[in-house]
Amino acid sequence: MMLSGRVPALDANQAAAPTQADNRFEPNCGVRREYCMAHATLKIIRDEHAALAAMLRSVLLLLAQYRRHAETPDFALLRAMLFYIDEFPERLHHPKESTLLFPKLRLRSNQVAAVLDRLDREHEQGESQIRNVERALLGFEIVGESRRAAFEETLQRYVDFYLAHMRTEELEVLPLAERVLTEQDWAELDAEFSLNRDPLTGHEPDAQYRALFSRIVCLTPAPIGLGPARS
Ligand SMILES: [Fe+2]
Ligand SMILES: [Fe+2]
Repeated sequence: MMLSGRVPALDANQAAAPTQADNRFEPNCGVRREYCMAHATLKIIRDEHAALAAMLRSVLLLLAQYRRHAETPDFALLRAMLFYIDEFPERLHHPKESTLLFPKLRLRSNQVAAVLDRLDREHEQGESQIRNVERALLGFEIVGESRRAAFEETLQRYVDFYLAHMRTEELEVLPLAERVLTEQDWAELDAEFSLNRDPLTGHEPDAQYRALFSRIVCLTPAPIGLGPARS
């Protein structure tokens, strides 16, 4: 699994827009499935999962590469990756799920009420969890080698947590939404999702994060990203 979600690494637009015909596309959370293009809301959520899963897996691959070669990491690159992982879900992805999709789903079914409660709690915990990872990275950068293992373990726990969270959404929440939400629900959701703009910048927030994703891809050494390979 490379930064793009495909091999070789590609840019964010390609990572975020797999086609139905592309059977090489790695599913977001390790679950192979048909790519659903039926509703804009589902496409947006699944595209964002794909981008986030690619970043989470790539930072682990990069750390393993640093360890294998006994290298001092490129801390600026690691900070950029964690910044993306920190901002993207908190500002763009979670709010759409917790404030737009989940409430509509609760109205139509109580089948996954407990699951939605847990996912909402995990959204709330996300910020403190990524702070722990960023603190562990700072310890590694400032103190040095003795903190490498602690950072790797903290990051691995976070990645496991986040991939499991997205897997639950992909396997339990989105399929139920496809079954129980009405055409009116989807029309309202699709309209709300398309209006989801960042009022401070006037730009689509997802466009900003795609640009950041692309910069990170270009800085990340091959074969994980498109940057120069390390010898
Ligand atoms: Fe979520
Ligand atoms: Fe999600």
